[in-house]
Amino acid sequence: VSLASYNTFRFDYSAEYFAIAETLDALRELLVWAKQNQKMVTMIGGGSNLLISADVTGLVIINRLSGINARELPGNLISVTVAAGENWHQVVEYSVEQEWYGIENLALIPGTAGAAPVQNIGAYGVEIKDVLARVQVINRNTGDVYWVNGRDCGFTYRDSHFKGQWKDLLFITSVELSLKKQSELLLSYGGLSERIDGKPNLRSVFNTVCNVRNEKLPSPAVLANSGSFFKNPIVSQNQHTELKQHFPNLVSFPFNGGFKLAAGWLIDQAGWKGVHYQGVGVYEKQALVLVNYSETNAIALLDLEAQIKHSVFEKYGVLLEREPVQLPLASELVK
Ligand code: EPU
Repeated sequence: VSLASYNTFRFDYSAEYFAIAETLDALRELLVWAKQNQKMVTMIGGGSNLLISADVTGLVIINRLSGINARELPGNLISVTVAAGENWHQVVEYSVEQEWYGIENLALIPGTAGAAPVQNIGAYGVEIKDVLARVQVINRNTGDVYWVNGRDCGFTYRDSHFKGQWKDLLFITSVELSLKKQSELLLSYGGLSERIDGKPNLRSVFNTVCNVRNEKLPSPAVLANSGSFFKNPIVSQNQHTELKQHFPNLVSFPFNGGFKLAAGWLIDQAGWKGVHYQGVGVYEKQALVLVNYSETNAIALLDLEAQIKHSVFEKYGVLLEREPVQLPLASELVK
């Protein structure tokens, strides 16, 4: 089965075995089948943070578990349980309609609710870890389903145990968000406050985030991409001081005792913005986003990635790290 319509880069690689899971029972049965037949299992949500660069052996499961349930808690809190296959933006939209605060800054992030914790999605000063009470997982070897507390998931900037030590063990089946019924807006990032006229409210923040994203980021439905292709690199105070001397306009933000650099700025200033290369390219309005203009495979993109990394390293001495998850997973390739 071709995976072209299951990854937003639209790279046309195939899955040896393929299934769509709409219920937890169906997912369990698929895992039993894979175990009995000794097949590797790969789970895909919205496919919007994936770089598929070869055919995937074993079973690929598309997670389409559905359902949203809300429960009021004392202290103006609302607990919202969302099945992993639900579309993330629709969850944000629904929450805004219900006047629940906490995820409005995360509007228009492509992908599913279940994929959101994997890379700890974030935008405009909010990360999903800030509102994530628990994550329901299924152990792919035993089929056991249980909840893990958000604070035990190893969340850091665009990273979690789901990308690391748990990646061959646990799949996310549901997330439990802890949202608020009283106003708590965060407007200090990405120029949000400057763009809102009058007193900001939940709806205006949501609309502004949607507008900013629509201006800067290509919709995967129109132009194949997977959002930011690199993480914003984190450097020490010393390295930052040195860089600032050479590049006074460097865009950076204090972060955990060091500084987070805007990778988009580094790539842009190194001359890559809008560059086309063998059917792929660097998006013209945001240099952090790589795009696929054609029906090509991932080879040109991997090549472009290497060239950008090399050029940024030469110019600034900073090593860029890729954000999307590459499939097949490395563990699969060694087998
Ligand atoms: N910049 C440039 N040139 C560019 C791109 C950016 O000079 O081509 C400068 C901008 O002018 C700005 C700074 O770099 O001063 C930061 O740019 P922006 O506000 O667009 O945010 P970002 O750091 O590039 C991050 C996230 C995005 C998230 C935005 C908004 C990462 C890797 N990316 O991008 O997340 O939407 O902030 O909070 O952290 C994603 O992860 O897929 C993603 C889109």
